[in-house]
Amino acid sequence: MTLSSAPGKVYLFGEHAVVYGEPAVPCAIERRARVGVERRDDGRLRVHAEDLSLDGFTVEYGATTDDRPDVNVSESLLTAATQYVDSAIEQVRDVTGDDEVGFDVTIESDIPLGAGLGSSAAVAVAAIDAGTRALGTTLEPDELAERAYRTEYDVQEGQASRADTFCSATGGAVRVEGDDCRSLESPDLPIVIGFDGGAGDTGELVAGVRGLREQYEFAADTVEAIGDVVRNGEDALAAGDLEEVGRLMNFNHGLLSALGVSSRSLDAMVWAARDADALGAKLTGAGGGGCIVALDPTPETETALSFTPGCENAFRAALTGEGVKRLE
Ligand code: MEV
Repeated sequence: MTLSSAPGKVYLFGEHAVVYGEPAVPCAIERRARVGVERRDDGRLRVHAEDLSLDGFTVEYGATTDDRPDVNVSESLLTAATQYVDSAIEQVRDVTGDDEVGFDVTIESDIPLGAGLGSSAAVAVAAIDAGTRALGTTLEPDELAERAYRTEYDVQEGQASRADTFCSATGGAVRVEGDDCRSLESPDLPIVIGFDGGAGDTGELVAGVRGLREQYEFAADTVEAIGDVVRNGEDALAAGDLEEVGRLMNFNHGLLSALGVSSRSLDAMVWAARDADALGAKLTGAGGGGCIVALDPTPETETALSFTPGCENAFRAALTGEGVKRLE
């Protein structure tokens, strides 16, 4: 077995506005997807996925997508466990030139699916890394990020940014602007996550913001204002000023809320974190449901979130400087 893991991420600043060329700052968190691969001689892919927030399942299918069985699992699980792996293995085939190779693939993940924590990017990064290594090629993090980006781009039909895959491959805090991704210096961040158990529809939420931006000049100004928050946030991170980082996260959440991408449960968790004296709190990712990220060096926010109606799970997830990890 060749085994790799890759981290999920939170957006400290800038989701949605990044779609229009503004900068964003995602950062990798110590919650991982682990992908193990074993080569098969018959060119088929067998995917076994466990702990993807729902029940484990096994899917076996051939090298072509038409060949798939009708499997009764949730759409999101099927997407995560088969489409991303399928596309990631295509990248492995492309890198290694071995068009016929098949694998037994096992996925374990402690990143909630579709909840703004970059679960699919982590699966793509770990699958490509394990698959290429199983065939004797070790990719540099930049190339791994590029290949994983292509995986997301294919599966999401062109609706992918480089943020999640770059962050997952390299680890740490990252600045993304258009196609340009680079690592940022960051202090340790006392990150607490609240998860409402749900997931937003990224395509619909992105389309909603696009519509508002086209209809109202003030919505376009709001998107630009998020860009200004991000630039200030970068300075605050560079200065290690966590109080200012938190204040700007609050501001960022307000602007996202104005753009209609928050929800009752996300707002309830953000306010619970603020009431517990977190330095700041905001939704992370596309919104509509899923996760919030708060900064709190004390245990207060995690405790407060665990008693907040609408919060299914609250946990601490440290910023990790380690991207892809080669485990076996
Ligand atoms: C979704 O995780 C982040 C968005 O900015 C969309 C994207 O950047 O592709 C909402």
